Amino acid sequence: MNRTHHNGELRIENVGEIVELKGWVAKKRNLGALVFIDLRDRYGITQVICDESMETVTKEVKNEFVIHVVGKVVERSSKNPKMPTGDIEIEATKLDIISPAALTPMIIADETDALEETRLVYRYLDLRRPKIQQNILLRHQITKSIRHYLDDLDFVDIETPYLTRSTPEGARDFLVPSRVHNGKFFALPQSPQQFKQLLMIAGFEKYYQIARCFRDEDLRADRQLEFTQVDVEMSFMNTDEILAVCEGMMAKVMKDVKGIDLPLPLKRMTWQEAMERYGIDKPDIRFDLELVNLNETVKDVDFVVFKSALNANGHVKGINVINQAAHYSRKALDKLTDIAKTYKAKGLAWMKVNQGKAEGPIAKFFNEEQTQALLEAMNAHDGDLLLFVADAKYEVVCDALAALRNHLGKELNLYDPESFAFLWVTDFPMFEYDEETQRYYAKHHPFTRPKESDLELIEKDPANCLADAYDIVLNGFELGGGSIRIHEQDLQKRVFNALGFSDEQIQRQFGYFVEAFKYGTPPHGGFALGLDRIAMLLTQSESLRDVIAFPKISSSSCPMTKAPTAVDQGQLEELGLEVIADDEA
Ligand code: AMO
Ligand code: AMP
Repeated sequence: MNRTHHNGELRIENVGEIVELKGWVAKKRNLGALVFIDLRDRYGITQVICDESMETVTKEVKNEFVIHVVGKVVERSSKNPKMPTGDIEIEATKLDIISPAALTPMIIADETDALEETRLVYRYLDLRRPKIQQNILLRHQITKSIRHYLDDLDFVDIETPYLTRSTPEGARDFLVPSRVHNGKFFALPQSPQQFKQLLMIAGFEKYYQIARCFRDEDLRADRQLEFTQVDVEMSFMNTDEILAVCEGMMAKVMKDVKGIDLPLPLKRMTWQEAMERYGIDKPDIRFDLELVNLNETVKDVDFVVFKSALNANGHVKGINVINQAAHYSRKALDKLTDIAKTYKAKGLAWMKVNQGKAEGPIAKFFNEEQTQALLEAMNAHDGDLLLFVADAKYEVVCDALAALRNHLGKELNLYDPESFAFLWVTDFPMFEYDEETQRYYAKHHPFTRPKESDLELIEKDPANCLADAYDIVLNGFELGGGSIRIHEQDLQKRVFNALGFSDEQIQRQFGYFVEAFKYGTPPHGGFALGLDRIAMLLTQSESLRDVIAFPKISSSSCPMTKAPTAVDQGQLEELGLEVIADDEA
């Protein structure tokens, strides 16, 4: 029993051939004396017809049975142009059941009404749905394309440990208790960052790894507990050369997987410009709807909301939603206000432009001159809807308007959802101040090199010190990021000190790493791209879950295996652990 063809293969040229096919029964229909079976495998669907002579076995066959069919390829009288095999069908002469199937808890078809929870409990059935299967296959195409590209450029694939110690990406670690050393823990890597830098010190020059990373974060559509990075590091290369390696890789992926020619070099924008124009460090540049800084324009306007923000050294920014005044009723504007509020804005002020004048509850605070200045600053005309957020905090103004901008871009169909807009965001701040703990944190990670021109600012003015760090953005998602690393010991110490690490803390946490830099360190840098995110965007999926074979759900668990689970008392004892509060408590 073998097969001669797969189920996506047979064409009109094959008519007359005797073939053997195997696969799953996607559908069975009885039409009088004839039984029609849609036979499915990874490659597609082929229609099989069985006549009365096979009634004993066709009666038994049900959906999702695995069967073996022998028959003759014939031309169909009513062809199906939607199917690649739609010109032919198989007149079965023999049909064997290889493996029966119980009634499946969900329909195995692209359109299913099964809840995601059910789909993930029976993920192996969900993965039979052609749409999801195609996603996983496309993900493989991406990986293959990346490996070819990097192999051709002389990069070496090197594995780094999963059982290691805490890494400084800034999320919570997953810990693994040691049986041999009770009371001590391995941490699963949040990324191979330190190891790849050590491989540069070791002299490999060009490293890559399709590496699994682990971060105990709250899950979102674009975040998983374990995810995959295309992790790359190289020595003796400057920023431009590193970005060229990365964008060349994305261009190859786009060509190989989507047949799209990506024009290079990719557009670049500094972090500062991205924040000013889009309010976000990962702007979706498929559409305009840019933020306008109105601090100067409204500084004398007698509207308490604007006044109090500006008096507190804050900001007023607006966006002009061109030609949409008529489409936003009070109720629709309330909905936009709610969005702004979820991003901590205290409210959303608005105006509509009509016959050269501003209308709406806040229009009365603007005199004629101020109104004209506003309309000019926002390039506003009749029919436009203007939205404003004011706040003492720049981040709040930016976050709220950026969220509104993304919402409106989608709601108003301001872009082609099939298009791909890549962008480099460069020159990120080196440090980020945290009000709560009253200290600076590394915005990327502490091994990132400050810009040559800003080295003085590390101690003098950390808030304004920029880093040689970059992110690659696609359609409003951060695909990846990287930086030039510090290769000088004294500079690394200055950065650690600026981050509030004492010499003793540096030794304790990074001793082995700092030690390595003593023995001849090449200048180096690199990047890591989120493979899951690339696959999500290239398959136009809504969530990473659609491109990961066995994903976790938002409750940080696996519906199929039910992990995480309690373990035997004996296992705990061996590890020297005691559970003091369990899930049910
Ligand atoms: P970073 O922390 O920015 O950089 O991560 C790089 C990329 O990994 C992806 N990513 C995630 N994908 C899914 N779920 C998550 N929880 C998740 N977290 C991150 C994103 C992100 O852009 N070592 C550095 C890179 C370097 O400097 O070379 C690093 O890990 O797409
Ligand atoms: P109020 O005076 O609080 O009734 O607000 C008048 C208008 O200003 C309402 O539409 C509010 O949503 C809006 N508003 C309130 N606070 C802000 C803010 N920080 N930024 C922008 N608009 C605001």
